[in-house]
Amino acid sequence: MHQETDSINVVQAALKNWKGFFIPYQMALDELESDFKIIDLEWKTAHGYSPIEHLKTRMKTIFSLVDKIENKNIPLTQEAIQQEIRDIAGVRIVTSFIDDVYMLKEHIEQREDIRMIRVKDYIKDPKKSGYKSLHLIVETQVILSNEVLWVPAEIQLRTSAMDFWASTEHKLNYKYQGASIPEEAQKQLVELSRASFLLDKEMSKLRNQLLKD
Ligand code: GTP
Ligand code: MG
Repeated sequence: MHQETDSINVVQAALKNWKGFFIPYQMALDELESDFKIIDLEWKTAHGYSPIEHLKTRMKTIFSLVDKIENKNIPLTQEAIQQEIRDIAGVRIVTSFIDDVYMLKEHIEQREDIRMIRVKDYIKDPKKSGYKSLHLIVETQVILSNEVLWVPAEIQLRTSAMDFWASTEHKLNYKYQGASIPEEAQKQLVELSRASFLLDKEMSKLRNQLLKD
């Protein structure tokens, strides 16, 4: 416990010395938030419907940054941290339908101000926990007065049902931080993930049916 507090202090002191370490990440979050707000407005205007149900941005907390630096044994230099930790800036986009997740991915791929670095499809290959989401590691363009930055960010795309499962599972797991949740409960969570995916599939079916009529 002591050791953990010590390392938080060390990292905090280091980050204080790196004035502005988080600034580019905040700029990236502002950029991405604005990009998707524009898409949302455009779609609502053109089609009366937007694929974006809601959107949240978050900056990685110093605590989870420290955890990751330690777990991954990353040297305490700005370059190493910038290079190795790609989810300091995070965006979560929640959609109503699975198709919307992939439509937004295609949209992101086509944008010139966002570079796709890595795709982790936990919808096609869910995590052992039952977690489903599409994770995109991207770099987003930030235009400054005298230079152009490409700042890494993680975009998590998921349906409302996947979001409900993930946020509830997170709450249930919280109690067991560091330890693992009982096996029986784990199995139940995987079952619940399957059940919520059924909801997604049935909603998609219904939508396709209605779109055809
Ligand atoms: P991290 O070191 O945690 O960032 O892991 P990683 O770099 O392998 O990234 P990964 O693609 O696994 O995504 C990590 C993020 O996805 C987490 O910060 C959570 O937001 C989310 N996530 C991943 N697995 C789970 C899970 O089992 N349950 C929930 N609720 N969220 C998850
Ligand atoms: Mg991550």
